[in-house]
Amino acid sequence: MSRTYRIAPSILSADFARLGEEVRSVIDAGADWIHFDVMDNHYVPNLTFGPMVCQALKPHAVTAAGVAVPIDVHLMVQPVDTLAAAFAQAGADYISFHPDAAQHVHRSIQAIAAQGVKPGLVFNPAASLDVLDWVIDDIDLILIMSVNPGFGGQSFIDSALRKIEAVRKRIDACGKDIRLEVDGGIKENNIRHAADAGADTFVAGSAIFGKPSYQGVIDTMRSALA
Ligand code: DX5
Ligand code: ZN
Repeated sequence: MSRTYRIAPSILSADFARLGEEVRSVIDAGADWIHFDVMDNHYVPNLTFGPMVCQALKPHAVTAAGVAVPIDVHLMVQPVDTLAAAFAQAGADYISFHPDAAQHVHRSIQAIAAQGVKPGLVFNPAASLDVLDWVIDDIDLILIMSVNPGFGGQSFIDSALRKIEAVRKRIDACGKDIRLEVDGGIKENNIRHAADAGADTFVAGSAIFGKPSYQGVIDTMRSALA
């Protein structure tokens, strides 16, 4: 089956002293989405950036032709609702959260959608998919973690491929247009495996930022997917 693939560079690995420029550069290099990793030093042992940084970057998330590039906010925070609302106000297009970080998963999904933002759920390497039995019709994105959340530059955990296959079956069975995103350890040499398992959206941080040519990496990833 032919899918529309999306490459979503994670600015977690960008130069934080030049974030606006980094967002523009990676979009010029062909990024489809901007992945925004929010960490709270509570749900995960690291601390990144909040809604004010998202708001400041929003005007930079456009192509040279002036087309807006979706901002894909990945919340690694607990509790979820206050920051989800703040990111909706700050211009997020997708907001996904970890069900185990939320007190009332269904309510949090509804609250995100009510603000006109596409809600998503994120599953850690050892997390069960059972919650999807009850909320898959209400979400627009499922994000499978192929590393434990908290840091860039970790190695891909192979069991994520089996989990992606299981999620692909659930998405196909429900018939809704839901993005299946994979996050962690994605490189030029394994992106195809994730796609073959059923992923259509690929987060990549350290594989892109810090490399001399962002376009070179993104082009190689796209040819691996072709
Ligand atoms: C990890 C983050 C990822 C991270 C991926 O907690 O959710 O988005 O930036 O980084 P790489 O691509 O370097 O594994
Ligand atoms: Zn992420």
